[in-house]
Formats: sequence, C-alpha cells, structure tokens
Amino acid sequence: MSRLIVVGAQWGDEGKGKIVDLLAEKFDIVARYQGGHNAGHTVEIGQKRFILQLVPSGILRPQKIVVIGNGAVVDPAALLQEIELLEQNGVSVWGRLFLSNRAHLILPYHRILEKESEDSPFQQKIGTTARGIGPAYEDKGGRRGIRIGDLLDANQFCCLVEMAVREKQAVLRARGRDLDLDPVQLADDYLEMGRRLLPLIADTSALLNREMDAGRSVLFEGAQGTMLDVDHGTYPYVTSSNATAGGACTGLGIAPTRIRGIVGVSKAYTTRVGNGPFPTEDNGEPGKLLRERGQEYGAVTRRSRRCGWMDLPVLRYSATLNGLDSLIVTKLDVLDTLEEIPVGVGYECEGTRLEEIPPQAEALAKVRPIYRNFPGWKQSTFGLTRYADLPQRARAYLEFIQDHMGIEISLISTGPEREQTIVLAGTRLQQLLPTPLFPS
Ligand code: IMP
Repeated sequence: MSRLIVVGAQWGDEGKGKIVDLLAEKFDIVARYQGGHNAGHTVEIGQKRFILQLVPSGILRPQKIVVIGNGAVVDPAALLQEIELLEQNGVSVWGRLFLSNRAHLILPYHRILEKESEDSPFQQKIGTTARGIGPAYEDKGGRRGIRIGDLLDANQFCCLVEMAVREKQAVLRARGRDLDLDPVQLADDYLEMGRRLLPLIADTSALLNREMDAGRSVLFEGAQGTMLDVDHGTYPYVTSSNATAGGACTGLGIAPTRIRGIVGVSKAYTTRVGNGPFPTEDNGEPGKLLRERGQEYGAVTRRSRRCGWMDLPVLRYSATLNGLDSLIVTKLDVLDTLEEIPVGVGYECEGTRLEEIPPQAEALAKVRPIYRNFPGWKQSTFGLTRYADLPQRARAYLEFIQDHMGIEISLISTGPEREQTIVLAGTRLQQLLPTPLFPS
C-alpha cells in the first residue's frame, strides 16, 4: 500500500502545497508532520487561491482524511481562523480533519519571547516568521510544554497555564521586561477554543496506524524544507523542527518501516526567507527578475524572498538526507525570459573544492559557488503539460539536473494550477502512487 513522504528539498516555499494537492487525489489520507502556521502552502484551484498554514493541502479534495500530527505546534486561534476561511469557501473540515492530542500548543507568551529573542543583542537574529514557533518547540524540548490533549481537562489546563505564565514572567523580568498576561483569562480563552476544536482532537498516531493496517494509503506532508531542518539545516538559521523525511516518523508516531517512498520538491531555482547563508543568492537584476516573475513574496509574512540559482550541492545533500526516490521541479516557467541560467554545481573555499555542505553556517556563508551556465530558452513554458512541448534548452537544463543528481525528475510544474503540470511516464513516482497520476 502506498505511503509516500513529500519533502521540501531546499529552504521551503518549493511549491509543496500544489504538489500535495495534486498527489492527494490518489491517497486516502494526507498527514502533516511538523511545523506550525509559519508554513504557507498556496494552492490555486480555478479562480480560488487558498493559503494553507496548518491544515494539509489534502483538505481541498473532498472525502480525504487529513491529519495534523504530534510533531506540529498549534496556535488554536490560527487553526480556527483557517478552518473558518475554508468553510467560507465551501470546504468542510469536520469529520475529516484530525488534530493530534500530543501536538504542542503555541501560547501568546511564545510570540512575546520570540520577539524578545529576535530583538536581543545577545542572540542571533534568525529572521523568523514571528509566530511563536521556536519558543513553543523550546518548551516541548524543555518538557514544560502544554499539549492539545491538556485542553480536555480544564482544571489541569488552568494549573499548567498558571505555572507557565509565572515561569515566563520570571524569565522576562530577569531580562528587565514585563509579561502582562492574566493566566486565568488566558486559560479561559484557550479552553473555549479547545471546546470548538474538540471534534478534531484524536490520538492521530493510533488513527494512522489503524488506517494503514486496514490498507489505506497515506501521503506524508512536510512543511518548510531540508535546509531549515533543526538538525541538518543551516543552523542556527533554521526552523525548530525536523523538516527532513525522518521527521515524518517521530512527528506522526509511525514506524520507518511504514514508509514506501520519498519525493523531494525543488524550485527550478532557489529562494530563502530570513537570515542565513545562501551560496547561490543573486542580489543583482537577475535575482530581482526571479522575484518578480516568481512572485517570491512570503505567503505568510509577505516578506520578499531572497532569490538565486539552482544549488546542486544543496540538492545532493537533500537527496542523501531524505533518501529521495524522485524529484519534482516547480516554477520552471519563471526562468522563461532569461538569457542565461547559471546552475551551482559545486563550492569552492579558499582555493579548495568542497564536496560536502559545511556544518557551520559561517563556513557555508564563505563558500563561492562554481557555476555552469545554460543558455536560456527564451520562450514560454507556462502551462505546458507535455514534456515533448518543452523547448530543447529547457529539456537540456532539466536533464542536466537529473543526470547530475542521479535521480529522476518525475513531475514538472509550469504554473500554479493543478493542470499546469508535466507528468513524466514510467517513473518511480508513478510506481509509488496508489495508481498512476494520469494514464502514462
Ligand atoms: P520560524 O520557523 O518562524 O522559527 O523561522 C525560522 C526560519 O525559518 C526563518 O528563516 C523563517 O523565514 C524560515 N521559515 C519558517 N517557515 C518557513 C516556510 O514555510 N517557508 C520558508 N521559510 C520558512
């Protein structure tokens, strides 16, 4: 039975929302394993544009079950708002969205602590999404977090909130700051939201394992991307969870032996939001052109994304860490007008060629990419659905990436809509799906 992980192969924003929505048609269940409402998965269907932050994109397919796993951190106000927006657009979530009782809550003091840390002269400025994600994961790791399941016991919840607020007040006071939060009011507000979320709360690990035992197929959805993984990314310029494929097991309570395949999603170029090293960044006119043509502005924060070229050392690293079976390339059409398209094929530092991604962000910031330039195809690929219709130069570009990586490219996205996709026949991805995407 098909169980496939979809993972971001770069720094997030690879277009996973569209890909998960597309693949979800084939699966019974879509399960999200980490992150919070820092993610922004954009899906366009006809005239409608959905920006999903917490709810897996599979929700847009009627009858699919979707799960937010224990590895996620959840701001209930943000989740309720997202549910309301979906409902207003005719997408009902009740009875098919399930939220892990083991997922940790984001509370208002997490955002305050994050601001404090981002403004502090004693801490690195990460350029976070300011949603309280990092501090919520800190509390989880520090074994003082409050979980969704705690909302089910009002007395216990009030005690936990009281304790947490007092602790945060002490922490902030020591830094000369005040935390003006009434724990009683806070607990009341959260309990009220908990009551509204009650029908969704479940032991999602048990649910998923039961459903898999019954033969149901599952698509596991990662948020952010490999280079933002807290262990393997460009630390400390990362998010606070495991965005790599391994996170699917711990973030959902499923065994590694359940996974049948892993597919990585990469843009045809590279972007990153926030601070941290980005070897193939282009700060000149071509970078601006990528930003404009690709509309590279954060779906959640509207911040401009930093733009640059395909970075093959990053993709190779990602392929190894995640064990990629297949690669999906998105936003190919953004490159249509370029005269020349550089591809980073390696790095060099002080005259030495590097074969691996250095573990220190400072070291990665110092490398110089070695580029190979490809002639642009200078014709529109927007909306194309057949590989044979791609200009020869676009095919050469993609085939170089595929050959260099030693991994097939199985899908190519040429526009935001579901249909604006080239599905390659005879790929490993097709074998990993419950049934092939289109008759191939
Ligand atoms: P945080 O996840 O809000 O703590 O932010 C940590 C870093 O991850 C910052 O550089 C953010 O810009 C980045 N980040 C978090 N979520 C996303 C995402 O969905 N796409 C791209 N970057 C993200």
